[in-house]
Amino acid sequence: METIATGAAPTPTAVKGLPPGPRMSRALQTAIWSRQAQWMLGQCRSRFGDMFTLRIANEGTWVMVSDPEAVKQVFTGDPRVFHAGEGNEILRPILGDNSVLVLDEKAHIGQRRLLLPPFHGERMQGYGEKMTEIAAREIESWPTGTPHKLRPRMQAITLEIILETVFGVHDRERLEPLRAALRDFLDLTTNPRVLLPVILLGPERIRYLPAFRRRIDRVDELINREIRERRAAEDLAERDDILSMLVAARHEDGSPMSDAEIRDELLTLLVAGHETTATALSWAMERLTRHPEKLEHLRAEALAGGEEPYLTATIQETLRLRPVIVLVIRKLTEPVEIGGYELPAGARVTPSIHLVHRDPEIYPEPERFLPERFLETPPGTYTWIPFGGGVRRCLGASFAQFEMAVVLRELVKRHQIAPANPKSERPFRRAITETPRHDAEVILA
Ligand code: HEM
Repeated sequence: METIATGAAPTPTAVKGLPPGPRMSRALQTAIWSRQAQWMLGQCRSRFGDMFTLRIANEGTWVMVSDPEAVKQVFTGDPRVFHAGEGNEILRPILGDNSVLVLDEKAHIGQRRLLLPPFHGERMQGYGEKMTEIAAREIESWPTGTPHKLRPRMQAITLEIILETVFGVHDRERLEPLRAALRDFLDLTTNPRVLLPVILLGPERIRYLPAFRRRIDRVDELINREIRERRAAEDLAERDDILSMLVAARHEDGSPMSDAEIRDELLTLLVAGHETTATALSWAMERLTRHPEKLEHLRAEALAGGEEPYLTATIQETLRLRPVIVLVIRKLTEPVEIGGYELPAGARVTPSIHLVHRDPEIYPEPERFLPERFLETPPGTYTWIPFGGGVRRCLGASFAQFEMAVVLRELVKRHQIAPANPKSERPFRRAITETPRHDAEVILA
């Protein structure tokens, strides 16, 4: 007899099988998804309601959910039944077999436990000074008076912050080749032309494409050198970068992390933390420059020093209205009843960040950029989900919001900022993230 993972017997009225969805072929659904994900989600919700099924090449069946109760059920569900690692399989060729993102159950908990300490709240304060220094230096080098794309500049800042806080590399001679190799590798992973082949070929075959192999080999060579030398460093105990903490970390049985484990987690933090934060920062400026009075409010608050509730609310509202990632994935290992459907094992349940954040019952006038909505009411655990949720919630959520606050504060304090073109920028898909189509182009004064 089939088991139902909610622990309860299936409700007699539950419909066995998948909710409805578009009837077009998988190939066509994949093509639309890769170019117009947000539009497709909106269309499907109007047509099919809160739960619908999409079929995407190499991704099996996606059951989209956006009702907060269903989202809660997925995020608090048994991790043995809701597999996020299997859902992130597409990242395995890049991140490696030990990455916390691609593991499930015991193996996932083991890696997550090792990665948690560096992301504790007080650590962030420690990184604050370095983050501020990097942001200020970068921003001071930006040109004024001409159109200027912010996204690549934000990427430069977030990469520099990761090199400093995660890798702990400050030496110019080491920094330059490492920065160049990582940049080259990251550009490939976020190239929109690479997305479709990745989806169509599937993760396994992508691994052997020469363009991928060459870049990954170079990155591995440099990272492995850093790991080797860090193991031998005499000042390991005093260092506060994440690589040093991983070298010193111990599994529950007392054994150290292997080189392969550390390599995979470093690359995971880089890939998960760099492009995402740079994109969120670009969206913050894209939205703020279309709302000059809100930008002014933010500047006045930053210049006054002290508490910064408007900055916090601006970051929360940016991540609500322009979430960098539109959904998260959990692959079912057993049949589960959700929202009146008895879903089969093997289906991928996908809480839609985009749809939850656009629900007018949760957020009145959902299309408006209104940081004020978060001044009185803090974000809800299952209604504000830019970082996913449950035991898989983004490990870098505090890090990212802290970093965003530092960069936005330094930027608005130094410059008057206007959009290069008053028209809003539309979302544009780059591999996994949804970025501003014109890279948040502004003119600084
Ligand atoms: C605005 C920036 C960011 C956004 C929007 C974001 C979003 C996400 C999302 C949606 C997930 C999947 C959660 C789930 O499946 O429920 C995730 C996981 C993860 N993120 Fe982030 N992230 C950001 C920044 C960062 C940073 C800065 C780091 C680290 C330096 C980071 C490290 C991770 C890791 C390690 C995971 C995997 C957690 C696990 O599987 O247990 N992220 N992130």
